[in-house]
Parts: sequence; structure tokens; C-alpha cells
Amino acid sequence: QKVSLSIDEIDKGPYEHFMLKEIYEQPLSIEDTFRGRISMDHSKIFLGGIIDVLPQITQANRIIILACGTSWHAGLVGEYLFEEFARIPVEVEYASEFRYRNPVINKDDVIIAISQSGETADTLAAIKMAKEQGATILGICNVAGSSIPRETHAGVYTHAGPEIGVASTKAFTSQVTVLTMMSMLLGKTRGFLSKEEYTHLVGELTQIPDKIRTILQADDEIKKISETYQHATNALYLGRGYLFPVALEGALKLKEISYIHAEGYPAAEMKHGPIALIDENMPVFVLATKDKSYEKIVSNIQEVKARNGKVIAIVTKGDEVIKKMADHVIEVPDCHEAVAPLLTVIPLQFISYHIAVMRGCNVDQPRNLAKSVTVE
Ligand code: G6P
Repeated sequence: QKVSLSIDEIDKGPYEHFMLKEIYEQPLSIEDTFRGRISMDHSKIFLGGIIDVLPQITQANRIIILACGTSWHAGLVGEYLFEEFARIPVEVEYASEFRYRNPVINKDDVIIAISQSGETADTLAAIKMAKEQGATILGICNVAGSSIPRETHAGVYTHAGPEIGVASTKAFTSQVTVLTMMSMLLGKTRGFLSKEEYTHLVGELTQIPDKIRTILQADDEIKKISETYQHATNALYLGRGYLFPVALEGALKLKEISYIHAEGYPAAEMKHGPIALIDENMPVFVLATKDKSYEKIVSNIQEVKARNGKVIAIVTKGDEVIKKMADHVIEVPDCHEAVAPLLTVIPLQFISYHIAVMRGCNVDQPRNLAKSVTVE
């Protein structure tokens, strides 16, 4: 029997908004995503939903990831993960663009549709088209039994639980968690990850929920930083590598719920345009944790400061170098760079939430936006 509840009847618990509740739920929702899928000794990842098509995925010519909105950003993280660990070429496409051009699709292609709702019209139509052309179709969806999973050959549910806030938070981190598990599993199966590397990476992933708990404790501090920028009219988000998609996601969150114009950019592209916008009124959120592009991101921060921009940097705990240059720093625990998106996105979710509340915006149901876009 189907039970339908209005939003007001679903419990927000002690939280003022669903979005805040969902931000706080992430340690648990991520644990739910890997529950029963990782062995105790970290030596095995088991994804039952794709086991039957594992040979096709392992031998795939390329992976094409199709999605919209925040799910598309998760897909971009997937591109870095699959190429790094499994050495399979990946293309990440907006479902709407893919379906309306004449894309080259081969039988050896594996398509992954990422969708929280499982109902996004463009994503659904795009996989139907790819299926007709013989590709193997996988889904990474949150809502069980929704339309996209019913169209796919196989897939992995994110198990993040119902997401009510229109701006996606916990669904994103669960999608990235699934992509991380899948890429490691494929990397091991294809022989690109040694047993030691694999076990180490799985360990890094399982530590994420506790590390997020630490970040959640900085909520008040992040709220204070947010106050400083609540009247901004523009904002820039910069990141490199695994953190470039996080920059896009941070900018989207701010746009969606606080109606501040924001753009995410790969940090190195700043000099090809956005740098012209930087003045003392421009907050620049920089994802600057310790990874292989750290030195480069430090130079990008210097470039922003030289133009009097305001830098809010997300850094690895204990970073003293950036602290001296940035206007504000928000620390996240040290981790492997491949799992850093799961940590660094949390402060950006908080910032957009707090700024939206301060501006009196309707956080859970922002104007003009829908949770699930079932029309073109
Ligand atoms: C809408 C929602 C976004 C979501 C996007 C894709 O725009 O407001 O939060 O990321 O659709 O939705 P999906 O359900 O396919 O992930």
C-alpha cells in the first residue's frame, strides 16, 4: 500500500530545515551506502547489483556518464576516479545534450546514468536511446523502483534515504561513494590497483563518515564566516583535479538556494576570464587541500589576493601556509585525494545553507526549482 505524506508531515527532527537535516545525516547516509558492500578487512568490495554485468564493465571501451544537475557533478568526480583507478576512458555528458545530438554509441560502451530521483526526463530518455543502440546501461539512483532503474540492465542504489530538500546534499555524497567503490572494484579487477593500494583506499573510504562528523562540529564557525558574505552579489569557486567538480557543486548550491550568482571554475582557468571580475567585493572559495596540485592552488590564491579578492579556503587540518594568505580557512581532516570531494563539499553545503537562511530564502523549496524534473 502506498503511503503519501506531505512535506510538513515528514519529521525534520531538531533541524529547522530538511537541507540542514540532510547535511547532518551524511555520516549515516554514506555508511548506509557502503553497508554490506565492504568486507570487514577492507579486502573486498561487493556490488551485488552489477555482478552479472561485471565482465562487460571490466572490458568496456569507455564509460559514458549521463546525468543532470548535482548528479552530473558527481559524474565528473567519477571521471577522475575511473580514469585514475581503472584506466577506462570516461565521458561525462549532460543527458539533455547527449540525447539531442547524434552521439556515437557502441556495443562495448557502458553507460552510467546517475539520478537521485530516478525520474529526470532527460536522463531517462538518454538511456533509452543508448539502450536501443546496444550499450550496457547501469544506474546509480536513490529512489528504489523509480523509472531509471527500471530501464537499466543493472545498477547500484545509493541508499541515502529520502532527500526532501530541493538542493541535493546527501544524495551527492552517496553517489560519489558508489562511484568510488565502483572505480576501485574495477581497478582491482582490471589489475591496475595492487591488493595493498586497494585495501588502503577502501580504508580511506570507510574513514569518511567519522571525518565528516569532525567537519559538522565546525558548523558554528562556518556560520560566522558565512555572515561576512551574506550580502555578496557574486562568488567564485575554484578547485583542481578531484576538487574541480566540488567547485561546480559549491557554486550550484549557492545559486540554487541563496540566489547569489556564483561560478565554479577549474582554478587554472581563472586567468582565462574570471580573474577580470576579482575585486575587494568578490568572495573566492578555494578548495585547497593537500594533494598533487597543492602548490598550484597556493599560487592561484596569491593571484586572487593580489587583486584584493576575499579568499575562503578549504584546507587540510594544520595547513599554516594558506592560513597566512587567506581571509578565512575552514579545515577538513587529512585524507587521500580521491576521497577529498566527500569531505570538502560539506563546508560548501553549510555556507550556502547559512547564507540562504540569512537572506530569508526558502531553503527547502527555492523559487523556480523542482526536486525532480520530469519534463523537458
Ligand atoms: C533537479 C534538482 C537537483 C538535481 C537534478 C537532477 O534540478 O533540483 O537537485 O540534482 O534535478 O536530478 P536527479 O534526480 O536526476 O539526480
